[in-house]
Amino acid sequence: MQKTQYNFDKIIDRTGTNCVKWDLRSLYFKNPNLLPLWVADMDFETPDFIIESLRDRLNHPVMGYSFRPKEFNRSFQEWALKKYNWDIKPDWISFSPGVVSAVSIAVMGFTEPRDEILVQPPVYFPFFKSILCLKRKLKYNPHKEIDGRLCFDFDNLEESISSKTKMLVLCNPHNPGGSAWTPEELGKLAEICSKHDIFVVSDEIHADLVFEPAVHTPFMEAAGDHALKTITCMAASKSFNLAGLSTSLVVIPDAKIKEKFEDLMQTLHISGGNLFGAIATMTAYSKGWDWMQQLLVYLKSNRDYLVDFVNSELPGIRILVPEATYLAWMDFSSLSMDQDELNRWMTQDVGVGLNSGTMFGPGGDGLMRINFACPRKQLEVALQGLKAALEKL
Ligand SMILES: Cc1ncc(COP(=O)(O)O)c(C=O)c1O
Repeated sequence: MQKTQYNFDKIIDRTGTNCVKWDLRSLYFKNPNLLPLWVADMDFETPDFIIESLRDRLNHPVMGYSFRPKEFNRSFQEWALKKYNWDIKPDWISFSPGVVSAVSIAVMGFTEPRDEILVQPPVYFPFFKSILCLKRKLKYNPHKEIDGRLCFDFDNLEESISSKTKMLVLCNPHNPGGSAWTPEELGKLAEICSKHDIFVVSDEIHADLVFEPAVHTPFMEAAGDHALKTITCMAASKSFNLAGLSTSLVVIPDAKIKEKFEDLMQTLHISGGNLFGAIATMTAYSKGWDWMQQLLVYLKSNRDYLVDFVNSELPGIRILVPEATYLAWMDFSSLSMDQDELNRWMTQDVGVGLNSGTMFGPGGDGLMRINFACPRKQLEVALQGLKAALEKL
């Protein structure tokens, strides 16, 4: 049978669909016409076989309460084995409407108010709110850049841990830096955390989006015997462009930890989840292999184009080469603008919507995050705009 060739070059008009990335441009950037390369979803079609599975369900006229069939866990178990060589049991898998809600539930369930929770900035910013709104203390162990790659600062980590430090929220692979953490890095992190009895919440939402020769290593796998207190948050939402369907998975091997997590889910009455999210997720994991292979080829070529363009056409601007994710961390500090000025210049003069670096915590000054999961033509327009605006400075 001939393989379907997917078309990631197709430009899709997402305006008028209550799309955060496109329809909130005026609200967030005061420029309704800019090219938005911010929110972490993709400007590609959600795969046709997933849309078909949703259409099939729509043929039935009742949308009442539903449960996730066994196939939900099984499809992820098989995907995890094939994609990350991660051998998990179906009954380790739990549900959450989103990865951030899973992080918040873990904070609620496994720490107490005023406990310290470690995060490693620059990092995906909703972690900060989950921790602060629940009256826990944020403790930073900033990443350090070594040879153009964000790395863990193990010395600082050991120094910052106190008797009040109870949890670490890990972003694996890393958003916004794009590091695909190695087994050695994760193993060392696990060793330190286990020595100090620190619970690790590993956000692995970008696990599928890793570019060869890098691979995804689940934290739990690298941690081995040190993985006593840990949960792993996964989802098909980034990988298959399903973020609007509010469905994610949480891998929890320890039965007691799993029970507590699920009790909290039931207290909030959110265990049922979204009927369509469950169908889309099962379909993605059971039928999505070829689509994912093709997506990765396209994303990698966009990444290489972006990095080459920055290095050859944008003097003074730096970019970290992402090993994973469709996000890249760009350094504009040579322009000597303060962050407000940089944001204004980007949105009004360049005409591109990026995430301001300071959102990601300490280490974000003078930097911005770009999302390159879009048709190549759009990326070209953004980069030409950047080049032209730089020449005018
Ligand atoms: C690292 C990371 N975690 C979590 C999320 C959001 O996940 P969810 O929508 O499932 O809460 C994102 C979205 O950008 C992300 O980049």
